[in-house]
Amino acid sequence: MATCYLGLGSNVGNKKKNILLAVKYLQKSKGIKVEKVSRLYESSPCGCPAGSPDFLNGAAKIRTSLAPLALLKELKNIERCLGRKKAKRFFPRPIDIDILFYANKKVNLPNLKIPHPRLKMRDFVLTPLKEISPGIIKKIASEVKTIKDIPSMRAFLAHARKNMSIGFVPTMGYLHDGHISLIRQAKKENDVCVVSVFVNPLQFGPKEDFKKYPRDLERDSIKAQSAGCDVIFVPEERQMYPDSYCTYVNVDKLTGTLCGASRPGHFKGVATVVCKLFNIIQPDVAYFGQKDYQQALVIKAMAKDLNMPLKISIMPTVREADGLAMSSRNSYLNLSERAEAAVLYQSLQQARKNIFSGEKSSKAIIGDIRKAILKKKSAKIDYIAVADADTLESRDSVHGKALIALAAWFGKTRLIDNILL
Ligand code: PAF
Repeated sequence: MATCYLGLGSNVGNKKKNILLAVKYLQKSKGIKVEKVSRLYESSPCGCPAGSPDFLNGAAKIRTSLAPLALLKELKNIERCLGRKKAKRFFPRPIDIDILFYANKKVNLPNLKIPHPRLKMRDFVLTPLKEISPGIIKKIASEVKTIKDIPSMRAFLAHARKNMSIGFVPTMGYLHDGHISLIRQAKKENDVCVVSVFVNPLQFGPKEDFKKYPRDLERDSIKAQSAGCDVIFVPEERQMYPDSYCTYVNVDKLTGTLCGASRPGHFKGVATVVCKLFNIIQPDVAYFGQKDYQQALVIKAMAKDLNMPLKISIMPTVREADGLAMSSRNSYLNLSERAEAAVLYQSLQQARKNIFSGEKSSKAIIGDIRKAILKKKSAKIDYIAVADADTLESRDSVHGKALIALAAWFGKTRLIDNILL
């Protein structure tokens, strides 16, 4: 008998009933013994056509005497019994049963790949799998090299640096698809891809969310690895900021407006930690997302002013299907806040349309965005601004290279977004 892990998903009809029925069918199948079933988790559709319903997902641990292909045949049978028709990939389905792992076997056939090739990228697989088998998650997470101290990180890269280029993605962890796109790009453009995971206390205000900032290093390791990361750097706080610590990096001008005005000291914390990370990693290229546009400009200015020999690459914002910019903080939102938060990008898109139709007044543009956001019950505006995209100085009208940036609260969660014109 082999131990196997299955992924279960449904996004049509009574999703819970579909999954529970699938488990019942599994229990009745000859040669299959169901040992554990996880709780069921809601997830947004991934790779499905726009407007597809949300999924309910779970995982099951089974023991089976069936060989991998025979097991696959049995699972397809169960899917058919539950009304799944042969449909295009990613289209809504009453039930989806995937083989995630089959003992320690590797299978690479046109119709069956084990371990499941996309399982490392998907929270809706990793979360239920961790619930029923924390050991498996630990094992996959340990497959990527993780370094926790500064001298070891330097030593590891000293060797690589001799004849290889180093791409670097600094993060505070809880990786989402925005980070994944940065990691992929870093690996595509460089020989070695380093990802740092460090929740930097220096960039949080005293009343901000440092303590509750989401952390899950195993999940981050698996996701980073699946996107091409070669080594994860997870420095400890006391190594980054020992008691004797007294040096800070302050980037003037760019930090007095937008998020800098709402979060005093934030960019000093960001510039300081990024400067330290650049000194430790000494990358050829570092990657940042456009969602944090002001941060990217601040870091560009710091690198230029302090003669740091590296390129800063700013990558496009990655968005959920409804346009919400991906952010680790989206995980704080409850269901209604999450639905309402889509207004941020929708209102920015509407502003873009109005500008192309001739509206140039910043006051009018900001007014329209404000109105749209305030229609949402849980929303409170921090700022909405039209600014010069290079200097971040406020502008009365839209001309040349302009930035529309905003920050708003949904319940207790502060989110930011922007568009460039
Ligand atoms: O964008 C972030 O996640 C952080 O501000 C950064 C750049 C990793 C510095 O802590």
